[in-house]
Amino acid sequence: MCNIGTGNTGIRVKIRPVTPEDWRSVIHIGASSFDYIQEPAAFFMERMLKYYFFVAEVNEDVVGFVDMERIDDDTAMLTGLAVREDWRGRGIGKTLAKFAVHFLRAMGFKRIKILTLSTNAPALHIYESMGFRKIGQQGDVVTLEKEL
Ligand SMILES: CC(C)(COP(=O)(O)OP(=O)(O)OC[C@H]1O[C@@H](n2cnc3c(N)ncnc32)[C@H](O)[C@@H]1OP(=O)(O)O)[C@@H](O)C(=O)NCCC(=O)NCCS
Repeated sequence: MCNIGTGNTGIRVKIRPVTPEDWRSVIHIGASSFDYIQEPAAFFMERMLKYYFFVAEVNEDVVGFVDMERIDDDTAMLTGLAVREDWRGRGIGKTLAKFAVHFLRAMGFKRIKILTLSTNAPALHIYESMGFRKIGQQGDVVTLEKEL
């Protein structure tokens, strides 16, 4: 499955499944986006192998990724969304999140859950603008859900 979006500035964003050649870019983006992850190489390698994992490319350069996990027959979790720092604020994160919704709907899931930090304003803004609603909070961690 492959998808072409245009971000919010008309840039051409290609979304495609991750390949083994992407590991260096994914680990770099993941490690710089989620600084609490202890061993980013092992962490993201495992996700690339086991999860639904897609990357965003601009001019054949990997600039972001989204990954998702099956929870049960009806529910999937959007487990990771990240855009390289120098490419943020241009609509790539939202393009990836929208792709994830289309992909999971096409896979037959009925709902998507997301955990994110209450302090993560850009992420919350993206998810809420796409119809995700808050269904719970434990400490700083907010749970959002969208019915498909
Ligand atoms: C979250 C993340 C993926 C967003 O990627 P991005 O490409 O910058 O996102 P977009 O440009 O598509 O959209 C960002 C939106 O947040 C908005 N935004 C940015 N800063 C904001 C803030 N402080 N408060 C509220 N909204 C904000 C932007 O205006 C934009 O919304 P708009 O399109 O309605 O104008 C990126 O910031 C990232 O990689 N962060 C680190 C990893 C992370 O936190 N991932 C999410 C974990 S669940």
